[in-house]
Amino acid sequence: MCGIVGYIGKKKAQPILLNCLGKLEYRGYDSCGIAISASGIEVHKDAVRVRVLGEALSVLDGTVGIGHTRWATHGEPSKVNAHPHCDCTGRIAVVHNGVINNFYKLREQLADEGHTLASQTDTEVIPHLIEKYYDGDFVKAVELAVREIEGSYTMIALMADESKIVAARKDSPLIIGIGDRENYIASDVPALLDYTSRVIYLEDGDIAVVSADNVDVKKDGSSVDREEHKILWSVEDAQKAGYEHFMLKEIHEQPKVIRDTLAEYISAAEPAADLTVGDGGLEDMLILACGTSYHASLVGKYIIEGLVKIPVRVELASEFNYSGQASTRSRAIVITQSGETYDALMSVKRLKEEGCQVIVITNVVGSTVSRIADQTVYTRAGPEISVAATKTFVAQLIALYWLALPYSRVDIRRLDDLVMELRQLPVKVQQVLDNEAIIADYARQLAKFENMFYMGKGINYPVALEGALKLKEISYIHAEGYAAGELKHGPFALLGSKTPVVAVVTQDNTYESVITTIKQVKARQSPLLALVGEEDETIIQLADSVITVPQIDPLFSPVVNSVVLQLLAYYVAKRRGCPIDFPRHLAKTVTVE
Ligand code: M6R
Repeated sequence: MCGIVGYIGKKKAQPILLNCLGKLEYRGYDSCGIAISASGIEVHKDAVRVRVLGEALSVLDGTVGIGHTRWATHGEPSKVNAHPHCDCTGRIAVVHNGVINNFYKLREQLADEGHTLASQTDTEVIPHLIEKYYDGDFVKAVELAVREIEGSYTMIALMADESKIVAARKDSPLIIGIGDRENYIASDVPALLDYTSRVIYLEDGDIAVVSADNVDVKKDGSSVDREEHKILWSVEDAQKAGYEHFMLKEIHEQPKVIRDTLAEYISAAEPAADLTVGDGGLEDMLILACGTSYHASLVGKYIIEGLVKIPVRVELASEFNYSGQASTRSRAIVITQSGETYDALMSVKRLKEEGCQVIVITNVVGSTVSRIADQTVYTRAGPEISVAATKTFVAQLIALYWLALPYSRVDIRRLDDLVMELRQLPVKVQQVLDNEAIIADYARQLAKFENMFYMGKGINYPVALEGALKLKEISYIHAEGYAAGELKHGPFALLGSKTPVVAVVTQDNTYESVITTIKQVKARQSPLLALVGEEDETIIQLADSVITVPQIDPLFSPVVNSVVLQLLAYYVAKRRGCPIDFPRHLAKTVTVE
């Protein structure tokens, strides 16, 4: 999604803005631009990468500026549609993240009033509205302009000869970074890590007037206090540290992520959230999420149903928001690593309106979701830069195990064993990583195919979904995840020597059934790669290739199996020469519907 940045201080703004924009590339974008205020406003933008934009520029004077990476919603990626956008005088420039619902009407009104709008974007109405309302007071003009806008309008406005920039937040994140006689604005923490660890999170409806030595946050016209936070992520956390891609680095960080997340939970005096069952407590549970977080939620269903023994309903947040019967009798969990996904936020709002207690699991401290939930459970995965979620997924699973274990209704001996096994997970994941070369070898064989199926059953069914999602998003191979028992209800028609199947086999009550499906798949000539938890003669006889994963209780097998499938997707994509960290058309944080 669009990334926005701003700088005001004593240094030249251009290199700082370009560096900050570079750090937001991971959000996904198709064009970029900057506006610098020196003698007048100078705008440079194009449908190019940030590096290319920077290389084409000589260093501009000006210590105040704004910048943008655009993820097209209204109008194709092009120079004219790239931000910043200006008013008729060229003295006001705006960058924006969001969607203006009433932009056609505003555009027509502005045109009738004599404004000429050049782009196809919704954003361009904002500088023209500011121009319309400007009567010598820049801040007032921004306040009046945003009142006209319906939809989401997180944005920064810059005006020639003003010693301040004005930022407004509605429905997408915006952070002020506090420096020493200089201040920064950005959509996301990684943009600011090179400059400051002191931040203020703006809230919906806030307008911040930012000068080099002051930040004044207003709501409904009056100044309000917004707490300053210290960022715990380091610059190194958001760098590749010698790895070829962020995704590979993030896959390799997973043993540490599990340790850090567990350490945080273990050190807490209280359980992460109250899941007490019966007697006025929980009777059932609803979990909502999107994408990879949805797959973690599906694993959560098996975890909570297996341990806490209550029914769990899992829904896509984007569908839940349009469903007729929203409310749950008791409590809901919403999972979103970024804490900013539009559909997830909308589902939290709906649940709360209907009187439901909402626990969120998120990786980003201070994210919007954490500020509207009743309770937040943080994962400690550190910044995830690659668009493909890996370590945050595993951290979400750890959070779900940890939520469920204190309320487990299994016998005490089994519970002790499970806690021991959970603590073993970092070692088991490291064993998978030590097998990387073998997995990479299988990936090279799979890279030549254009269609693939992943299958799993029980707690590893969502793992198959996640494996397929990972593969399609970074390698562009068409992949589908299926419940093993469902393949025969249609997908079998697509099997054959050109359609491999990756089977996740678990040594639990699903084992025999999955073996039966494997035999049916092999009878249809599909190449079959199986993931199994131990040397298994039956599978070795049946499958074309076998990856042995470390032995672990089936409850925790989604963690080790997922890491194998992440590496598999990574090496397939690498073999196919794909832009692994920034797949086409995708955004890391999806702040629009
Ligand atoms: O930030 P969230 O967890 O809410 O994001 C949800 C999805 O957009 C995300 O998981 C997406 O599916 C990933 N790119 C998959 O790797």
